[in-house]
Amino acid sequence: MVLFKITRVQTSPIEGQKPGTSGLRKKVRVFKQPHYLENFVQSTFNALTATKVRGATLVVSGDGRYYSEQAIQIIIKMAAANGVKRVWVGQHGLLSTPAVSAVIRERVGHDGSKATGAFILTASHNPGGPTEDFGIKYNMENGGPAPESITDKIFENTKSINEYLIAEDIPNVDISAIGITSLEGPEGSFEVDVFDNASDYVKLMKSIFDFQAIQKLLTSPNFSFCYDALHGVAGAYANRIFVQELGAKESSLLNCTPKEDFGGGHPDPNLTYAKELVARMGLGSHAAEDPPEFGAAADGDADRNMILGKRFFVTPSDSVAIIAANAVESIPYFSTGLKGVARSMPTSAALDVVAKNLNLKFFEVPTGWKFFGNLMDAGMCSVCGEESFGTGSDHIREKDGIWAVLAWLSILAYKNKENLGGGKLVTVEDIVRQHWAAYGRHYYTRYDYENVDAGAAKELMAYLVKLQSNLDEVNKIVKGISSDVANVANADEFEYTDPVDGSVSKHQGIRYLFEDGSRLVFRLSGTGSEGATIRLYIEQYEKDSSKTGRESQDALAPLVKVALGLSKMQEFTGRSAPTVIT
Ligand code: G6P
Ligand code: ZN
Repeated sequence: MVLFKITRVQTSPIEGQKPGTSGLRKKVRVFKQPHYLENFVQSTFNALTATKVRGATLVVSGDGRYYSEQAIQIIIKMAAANGVKRVWVGQHGLLSTPAVSAVIRERVGHDGSKATGAFILTASHNPGGPTEDFGIKYNMENGGPAPESITDKIFENTKSINEYLIAEDIPNVDISAIGITSLEGPEGSFEVDVFDNASDYVKLMKSIFDFQAIQKLLTSPNFSFCYDALHGVAGAYANRIFVQELGAKESSLLNCTPKEDFGGGHPDPNLTYAKELVARMGLGSHAAEDPPEFGAAADGDADRNMILGKRFFVTPSDSVAIIAANAVESIPYFSTGLKGVARSMPTSAALDVVAKNLNLKFFEVPTGWKFFGNLMDAGMCSVCGEESFGTGSDHIREKDGIWAVLAWLSILAYKNKENLGGGKLVTVEDIVRQHWAAYGRHYYTRYDYENVDAGAAKELMAYLVKLQSNLDEVNKIVKGISSDVANVANADEFEYTDPVDGSVSKHQGIRYLFEDGSRLVFRLSGTGSEGATIRLYIEQYEKDSSKTGRESQDALAPLVKVALGLSKMQEFTGRSAPTVIT
């Protein structure tokens, strides 16, 4: 037994530690400043009720990005000094964000203990490495991100902090090997439990999906599959689930070795950054000859997903709508029905149409997964999703990249029950086109202007807020740009009152709503680490099934022109084109 002491280290506030949409994300060099991480961690401990710290069990792990190992060792020592009793660490410090959520909710320790929270070390889809991003966020007892009431408190604490507690003489724990390290401090025992990072998550997935049915699909000679983890933590789960459990070939896994710099790539599963998968699926300028039937990718911490068919992209907004429309018959977990569905405001209204048709409760929430958590805890929502490549359900309180893939494979397995072993398959593209024929299509695109001057971005938003109050003026401008679009019927700044706890979230994006159901939405990203990112979301609804097969960029061209003109995008930002189009 090692006996450790507690040191109180004097510190002073460091500016800019306000947690964003999903925790604190900054460049590694910022995190490496003396006391930077420590101030934030202590401010978090101080924001929690004492029982969530003293004697508690905390999970500490992440996507394995550069600086994770050092951060984990610091947090272990600070947890010990603050009276935490057990720290659970996924082997190698790796746990996907959805797996953390599952571990908080499901894992029982060797002594019957349960976790009450987690520090997740990730900057999600942002690149990693010495010159790139690191991040930290706190999740609560329900497995979901801390609500604003807590993150506001954390931020307040960072502004007045004057000391933090750390047990400096605890030796670094070997997090590469499974096992328990027991230590003794002034307040009794403290242990670090390094555990298998996949087994709790795999067990949960097996309780939700029909693995046998998916295995039949994945091993069928007329089906082929490809999964790209973009060198993120999803790789730690992909091999276990897709290959070992479900029988996919090992060659169907791309970039599935987690790396601290994600192989130098940008671990964001979209058409721009998941280049290798996109080519393999027969899309883009380097399209492969004979693409697989199904492809998917994840982001760094494996909560996002991109779904592709052979030479076919499924928009995230369509994906959640299609999963919701097919969940009850294809996924055992939902066989008794859906409690409700929800999407974030900028996500297309495809899900709304499904909800209406199936008579389901429906919610539109601000961007950020935490808003779904409240609905789920109250039993009001089963399936939800966001345009930002996030899809999930109430099995946990985070979006879940691998869950989304298993959901799609379940739908494919169900629709192809009679076709496996040979014959013509119902493809991903067929499923999407059939969905459009039944429900109409929401043409959709998102333009991102990354790392724009923060002042300019604010000015653009302020201009749009002001403009929005004068609809006549808006319509005059719109008609001056294009006669091919409908009238703007309404414009506002989205505001949300949580139906569960009554909390109000303001300034959640500016919406221009057109008479024909088209929408333009402008928002500032809450996840960047430098400058500002302006997101422009463009959507148009087409009910006529003879017109749902157009190229999305063609169908949306007039609205795009209107959006750029109306917002004076180039004038404010100096940018003639977005950095990413999804
Ligand atoms: C994270 C959150 C998502 C959210 C996304 C938006 O991934 O977990 O819930 O949709 O960020 O990011 P943005 O950069 O648009 O604020
Ligand atoms: Zn993520």
